[in-house]
Amino acid sequence: MGCFITMEGPDGSGKTTQIQLLRDYLSGKGYDIIVCREPGGTKISEAIRQVILNKEFTEMGNMTELLLYAAARAQLMEEVIRPALKEHKIVICDRFVESSAVYQGIARGMGVDLIYEVNQYAIGDTLPDLTVMIDIDAETGISRKKQQAELDRMERETIDFHKKVVSGYREIAGKYPERMLRIDGRASIQEIHEQITAAVDKIIS
Ligand code: ADP
Ligand code: TYD
Repeated sequence: MGCFITMEGPDGSGKTTQIQLLRDYLSGKGYDIIVCREPGGTKISEAIRQVILNKEFTEMGNMTELLLYAAARAQLMEEVIRPALKEHKIVICDRFVESSAVYQGIARGMGVDLIYEVNQYAIGDTLPDLTVMIDIDAETGISRKKQQAELDRMERETIDFHKKVVSGYREIAGKYPERMLRIDGRASIQEIHEQITAAVDKIIS
């Protein structure tokens, strides 16, 4: 089997930036890499993403939201992640089930147990070998996003919601320290990259 790495953290924590650097680093070492993002990564999952993040769908219920994220994930697992791991590739995914645990389970208040139960159907027994969690406070993360592009439905949530996301990530990272690496997102892009490569080198060697 290959190696499955997921990148987690609040909006604007630097996940996409770090994934690009990690991909270049691992490609440079000759590894076969697949990068994907959630929700998305397949034609169907990207179509579901358009529904989930549409800023006009403010009436979306919590259960609909949870199931749409899980549906996008199920398709990505089947079409991309499992086949790539079988071919011994390194898969790096921008967000995974911990995003549902934090955003839907904690910030929306649906309960973490329900999230893992529902997502069991989407992911089966394919779990990440390493989850990197970049920690950033809500104000910094959202202000970085505002400078980048128009905010989507989730990013338009209240600052209170984003604060719950931040504390939710801290809670989950504290619960599973053996498989989650928590990194201070206020450090420089290069410093964070070095912490990530040190952890990744350990698991792929
Ligand atoms: P995410 O994918 O987690 O939402 P991005 O990687 O898109 O975050 O980063 C959001 C913005 O913050 C980008 O403009 C990026 O250049 C900037 N950024 C990323 N990491 C850092 C960092 N460590 N320090 C300062 N700015 C950063
Ligand atoms: P994305 O665009 O990757 O966020 P970012 O702004 O960090 O680049 O992700 C879209 C949004 O979806 C983001 O606000 C987090 C949210 N999300 C959930 O609420 N649950 C989930 O299971 C996933 C994968 C994402």
